[in-house]
Amino acid sequence: MKILVTGGLGFIGSHTVVELQQRGFEVLIVDNLSNSSLKVLEGITEITGKAPEFEKTDLRDKSAVSALFKKHKDLDGVIHFAASKAVGESVANPLLYYENNINTLVYVLQELSKLEQANFIFSSSCTVYGQADELPITENAPVKAAESPYGNTKQIGEEIIRDTTRVNEQIAAISLRYFNPIGAHPSAAIGELPIGVPQNLVPFITQTGAGIREKLSVFGNDYPTRDGTCIRDYIHVVDLAKAHVSALERLLKKKSDSNYEVFNIGTGTGSTVMEVIESFERVSGNKLNYQIADRRPGDVIAAFADTSLANKQLNWKAESTLDEAMASAWLWEQKIRN
Ligand code: UD1
Repeated sequence: MKILVTGGLGFIGSHTVVELQQRGFEVLIVDNLSNSSLKVLEGITEITGKAPEFEKTDLRDKSAVSALFKKHKDLDGVIHFAASKAVGESVANPLLYYENNINTLVYVLQELSKLEQANFIFSSSCTVYGQADELPITENAPVKAAESPYGNTKQIGEEIIRDTTRVNEQIAAISLRYFNPIGAHPSAAIGELPIGVPQNLVPFITQTGAGIREKLSVFGNDYPTRDGTCIRDYIHVVDLAKAHVSALERLLKKKSDSNYEVFNIGTGTGSTVMEVIESFERVSGNKLNYQIADRRPGDVIAAFADTSLANKQLNWKAESTLDEAMASAWLWEQKIRN
């Protein structure tokens, strides 16, 4: 079985390629290297003992997408990671986000709509829920108005897939709504490679621990939570990667209840920012330098998943603890600093 993984050199993509190869799938990675490096291919090969096939292609080029599918007629599924993901950048440059995240999705789906049968997995986000009224968040929670163009591309992306699968019944699709992916492969051969100052909590913590940043700003400690800091559902990226393999197997075995399904992918447990800091201090043995700062505009108070649907239908469950995920993130940070 051969799977096309777009954005397969990115953070979640590369970990998913490893899990796919370890489950016996052949993988074709397509990436434009805009936010990734060819070194990731070496990391994947080091872990799995097998180099995945790789093509440098920019999916914003419609004719290149068409040529890709003409060349590779033996694909059994597509996992579509290729997209931009920085919230602040999307506010500053919305058209870049609509082009990167929406045009590419449309072009890939247009090619799938020409096939007799196609399996498709889309990277969505818990950001579609905004501040949910009830916790934990089930898939039935309403989608709230997006806080950023990035968030909007995930909502629109889901709608595009819903509308497409309604008329193109030969396409079977699953959207996975990720909560907060963190950590790295335990081998430290691949991990997250943030460019510039990290916007996300965990890479900022590990860079501070490594002395690259002076101190972490905790964005607000006056939220109505157990210690005043925001709550998120931090999931080990390897657990998240495995969820993609489970979703793919559901599609391949034709077990879906309908040709478009949506699943939350998280641990089901919420952690506060302070609890993440404490976890880092525990696993690294270092005290973290931090200060309490103003709230960050656009942050929700609390978000964590009800994962019972994914647990049951995908026969998948997140296994790693927060400490295990933080330890892997710290190991990776130390490796890239050396
Ligand atoms: C962010 C995006 C979300 C996206 C996800 C992808 C925002 C508002 N949301 O989620 O749309 O899907 O990344 O990974 O950017 N924090 C600090 N100090 C920091 C950084 C973060 O205190 O320097 C806090 C935040 O206030 C938040 C928590 O840590 O409470 C997690 O933040 P982050 O890692 O940026 O993830 P989200 O905001 O949940």
